[in-house]
Amino acid sequence: MGDPMADAASTRANLLAQPLQLPNGSVLKNRLAKSAMSEALGSYDNHVTPQLPRLYGRWAASGIGLLITGNVMIDRRALGEPGNIALEDESDLPLLQEWAQAATAQGAQIWMQLNHPGKQSPKGLNRYNLSPSAIPFRKDLTAFFDTPREATPAQIEDIIARFGHAAAIARKAGFSGVQIHGAHGYLVSQFLSPHHNQRSDEWGGSAEKRRRFVLAVFAEIRRQVGAGFPVGIKLNSADFQRGGFTEEESVATIQALAQAGIDLVEISGGTYETPVMTGAGDGKPAASTAAREAYFLEFAEKVRAAVATPLMVTGGFRSCDGMNAALRSGALDLVGLGRLLALDPDAPASLLRGADSRYHVRPISTGIKAVDRMALMEVSWYTRQLKRIANGHEPKPNESGLFALLGTMAASGWGTFRTRRLRAS
Ligand SMILES: Cc1cc2nc3c(=O)[nH]c(=O)nc-3n(C[C@H](O)[C@H](O)[C@H](O)COP(=O)(O)O)c2cc1C
Repeated sequence: MGDPMADAASTRANLLAQPLQLPNGSVLKNRLAKSAMSEALGSYDNHVTPQLPRLYGRWAASGIGLLITGNVMIDRRALGEPGNIALEDESDLPLLQEWAQAATAQGAQIWMQLNHPGKQSPKGLNRYNLSPSAIPFRKDLTAFFDTPREATPAQIEDIIARFGHAAAIARKAGFSGVQIHGAHGYLVSQFLSPHHNQRSDEWGGSAEKRRRFVLAVFAEIRRQVGAGFPVGIKLNSADFQRGGFTEEESVATIQALAQAGIDLVEISGGTYETPVMTGAGDGKPAASTAAREAYFLEFAEKVRAAVATPLMVTGGFRSCDGMNAALRSGALDLVGLGRLLALDPDAPASLLRGADSRYHVRPISTGIKAVDRMALMEVSWYTRQLKRIANGHEPKPNESGLFALLGTMAASGWGTFRTRRLRAS
């Protein structure tokens, strides 16, 4: 039998269960947040399907405080992967409302992550891709990604307006907030990067000008959703790429967004060319960072010193103790969870009780070196688990990487698989 006094003390000490008040006055019921995971559950023509409310209803039932959707595209002509949702008009409003209701029925908030992939979209998916500048990919990736076209000033203005319009639709459908995807090498992140943005007009040429795009996206969203509606951003601590976005620029960007009134900043890192967001790639976290679980905690401490905006950190959290230690350090307000929630959608119920999930996030491999080197296995393996939950099944935490690979190929055909294999997030 357990010691009731000790149990009570440990429950009291479980910081995960504490509510958090956001700057707009709304309250998140606890410190656990699901970070965005692209569900790839859109229809073939990129509309919302009933699988999405089912998936989010399952997560909501776990008691989690905040659910951030997988990335939703703001332009049908600019998809990041097959199965994306694209949100351009109100044609999906009834299903969007169902999605928001399923997620919020137990008191959680749901924020829609809005994204434009820019150049980070596999060959053949879109007619062409736009980016701040026409910079080719790293040589070994050019087989999978085309060199983008440089966006014209009018195209940039159109994209900014689309971010605002999609946010207004999300609000109308009953979503609790939106998050700008400013991380992982997509368009917002491309504008911030001196490597990808080599413009000399008002959108590039200095760190201030490179941040004009994200600030314009935020201002337009705010204009279209009003003052009380939460608007957050997921931002890289750095791109971990030579000549890329640095920690100093990231802090300065967060300061500018904080001044403009952003409600929540989520910290991550990496791009397709340097996929450190899931702990992979050359920018692998140091052993000391891995021991503290969170990959980006040290950077969060720097941000904490610079702004008062609530902070969420995502990447590497696995245990109740690790999450509590991070919260206790004071560097963050919300613990972001990705892969653990695809393995165990009920994990928040355990964590809120002060216990760990029954399952462990483990490296996924097929045993075939050439395939594993392509870094494709993780994402398609986890996407399969999301699909299982969405279809009313339990995930298969022990499913073999090889089995998942064969299943994905059989289900989608080699063509789809090929387009998705380099997607890091
Ligand atoms: C299947 C899958 C899809 C993802 N899709 C997105 C996405 O749409 N947007 C995003 O910001 N991050 C995405 N990510 C990254 C996660 O939000 C998170 O940053 C990353 O998995 C690290 O957190 P973790 O260690 O808790 O998994 C994705 C990750 C996975 C595994």
